[in-house]
Amino acid sequence: MAPPSNPMARLLIADDQRDVLEALRLLLKPEGFAVETAFSPSAVLDAVKTKEFDAVLMDLNYARDTTSGQEGLDLLTRIQETDSTLPVIVMTAWGSVELAVEAMRRGARDFIQKPWENPRLLSILRTQIELSGALRRGQRLEAENRLLRAEGLPTFIAESDAMQPVLRLVSSIGPSDANVVITGEHGSGKEVVARTLHALSNRVSRPLVAVNTGGLPEGVFESELFGHVRGAFTDAKSDRIGRFELAHGGTLFLDEIANIPLSQQAKLLRVLESGEMERVGSSQTRRVDVRVISATNADLNQEVAAGRFRQDLLFRLNTVEIHIPPLRERRQDISSLAMHFLSHYTQRYRKPAQSIDPSAMQAMLEYSWPGNVRELDHAIERAVLLASGDIIRVSDLALRSSRESPQRLEDLSLEDVESFLIRKAIERHSGNITQAADALGLSRSALYRRLQKYGIGST
Ligand SMILES: Nc1ncnc2c1ncn2[C@@H]1O[C@H](COP(=O)(O)OP(=O)(O)OP(=O)(O)O)[C@@H](O)[C@H]1O
Ligand SMILES: [Mg+2]
Repeated sequence: MAPPSNPMARLLIADDQRDVLEALRLLLKPEGFAVETAFSPSAVLDAVKTKEFDAVLMDLNYARDTTSGQEGLDLLTRIQETDSTLPVIVMTAWGSVELAVEAMRRGARDFIQKPWENPRLLSILRTQIELSGALRRGQRLEAENRLLRAEGLPTFIAESDAMQPVLRLVSSIGPSDANVVITGEHGSGKEVVARTLHALSNRVSRPLVAVNTGGLPEGVFESELFGHVRGAFTDAKSDRIGRFELAHGGTLFLDEIANIPLSQQAKLLRVLESGEMERVGSSQTRRVDVRVISATNADLNQEVAAGRFRQDLLFRLNTVEIHIPPLRERRQDISSLAMHFLSHYTQRYRKPAQSIDPSAMQAMLEYSWPGNVRELDHAIERAVLLASGDIIRVSDLALRSSRESPQRLEDLSLEDVESFLIRKAIERHSGNITQAADALGLSRSALYRRLQKYGIGST
């Protein structure tokens, strides 16, 4: 069942007199509050540590010490330590204004004297709940703004045949809540795909929060992902929201997922399985609603086989897997990408319009692009800055020439070489399959099988 858009305010009321609690409950329930009760300071602390409330209404006097209010003041301080955004309204005996003032000094948001007037109590509660809701939203927004990059649909160029299966997957599963693993070489566009998936989903009004899981030192991983409370460890000077909570309602992008140490994989698995987590140092369980998109340039099945990656975690993460082919296997995209980066950088550097010399384009089409789209991006950026006139020439691109790296062929897999030779033959024979097959010493059907295998278009 979907939660109501304007859920009931959750209220914790605390007093050691049962009749007071009962009277409050009778007053507040019909007014739309979800009420929980606690009879003792320790019960109050247990409740705020394990559940989320929108406000606490508590008496300052408890049985052990019924007049000074010291127990109540201590309790107030402890609640503040647990959650400084939780509004606490204190109740004091008639005439003990000094105690109320002391409570306010310690962080209580307001006070009410017993016996209370119902309308005044309701109005205080509603105001404080409203205010703290705004404060909590503000804190969350501020943290988000620091983390987030520009939203909206990113430019995602995918014109080649090899990218059509990727495009189809992206548009069909984008709007779903499916967890996705994106694989592909460095610079092939994994993050662009992640952002596109998020932008297509109905989570788009909520953030996509990126975290480079592989780059986090062991000790930092948990507090980065799950947050911590003040005092959880020496450097924890204040409460901190983790990435999971920040991504609540949105998408969490876990980059370099294969590098997560096994010890941390277990913690990740738990929140993915249960949707529940605790900030480090807190026992309050929080529910998070997050779609997880992860990326890696490693072969996760191989990592599982080698015992470096948990199989159960992989099952949770890769409801769908999207593999992005390297740029050298989708040369049809090169010119569109080049033109896209060209216009981007001439604008950014306020250069007059430039064009790409045909031989420079030819060089780009033949180049192997070991750094994939990112390398192309950088090559164009450099060329825009270096080109002396309005034409970008081969020399401006500073590509590593194939003669400089004859060993590159040996770095390629047999399949890469085969796919490369087939493309070359088809180019040379202007798309004529019979002639290309002849030149390669293959039958037409054998060539067709390979075209299918490598996702090469024949026309
Ligand atoms: N299909 C595409 N269309 C437009 N721009 C792209 C495309 N693919 C990649 N880019 C651009 O190329 C650069 C590298 O892409 P991205 O950061 O997504 O790669 P990656 O696979 O995440 O790389 P890494 O493995 O190094 O993290 C970015 O500037 C991105 O905008
Ligand atoms: Mg990346």
